[in-house]
Amino acid sequence: MAAVLLGLLLFAMQSPPVPSRPTADGRPPLPPTSLPTSHPNGTLQQLPKIIIIGVRKGGTRALIEMLSLHSAVAAAQNEVHFFDWESHFQKGLPWYLSQMPYTFPGQLTVEKTPAYFTSSKVPKRIHQMDPDIKLLLILRDPTERVLSDYTQVFYNRLQKHKHCQPIESVLVKDGEINLGYKALNRSLYYVHMQNWLQYFTLGSIYVVDGDELIRDPFPEMKKVESFLNLEPQINTSNFYFNKTKGFYCLRDHGRERCLHDSKGRAHPNVAPAILQKLYQFFHEPNQKFFELVGRTFNWK
Ligand code: A3P
Repeated sequence: MAAVLLGLLLFAMQSPPVPSRPTADGRPPLPPTSLPTSHPNGTLQQLPKIIIIGVRKGGTRALIEMLSLHSAVAAAQNEVHFFDWESHFQKGLPWYLSQMPYTFPGQLTVEKTPAYFTSSKVPKRIHQMDPDIKLLLILRDPTERVLSDYTQVFYNRLQKHKHCQPIESVLVKDGEINLGYKALNRSLYYVHMQNWLQYFTLGSIYVVDGDELIRDPFPEMKKVESFLNLEPQINTSNFYFNKTKGFYCLRDHGRERCLHDSKGRAHPNVAPAILQKLYQFFHEPNQKFFELVGRTFNWK
């Protein structure tokens, strides 16, 4: 608790000043450290104790939904983009806090913004807010993640009636892997992880295996529960396989629901030779990541 308060204080000193608006009765505005804000029914908005930092298309929505099955966890509805978007960060911690759900005092707030993982300024900013925060990073096979990233952009552009380039033409340039394609960089996990390890130890960052979370979510969620020191509560009966969706869906107090249609989309077919090139491309970066985290993953 002391560390959190100290973090807040340091953060308030380093973050840009909050615009001062006098209150209606002329009293000075509340200082930014007057946190948390409370509600008459005993709930209050609390800063996150857990942040899902990424990776984009790693399974972040599934993870936050599954974590929300636990009664001690309350999730922010939207991706907050506080630490990576300057326009949000300029608003200071009180704004960040205002984005959080109302929770009971013992509950832990969690937010997820997948873009945090690949933004180099974010680790320092989160550390300034709370050096003891717990971070969850969900990763999947880097090649699969690139295809998922492409698919998301494809559908976004389609919706806006914009031109979509075929996957081969973004992946390959002059017969070689196109290093200028941003989605490839996002899958160079060791590059981004190095930034985080400058501020946090491995003990603060749990890497969730996104491929395993798809294959069999329950064991993966038990590991998450344990990392967060949560009382064991998530159960096998919280998950059931939905054949139509082709993914596990959630059962919570008898109510069943699957993730949105935009989660679990079919990926484009890629020529085997190009796929092979991608696997080769990621081979070395993957090894570097395994060394960095002292753990291996079943990536091709
Ligand atoms: P695809 O849609 O490419 O299959 P994020 O939420 O970070 O954007 O990640 C989306 C990915 O979550 C999906 O990518 C899907 O593979 C994965 N996922 C994991 N568990 C899922 C589940 N139970 N239902 C749907 N998608 C799930």
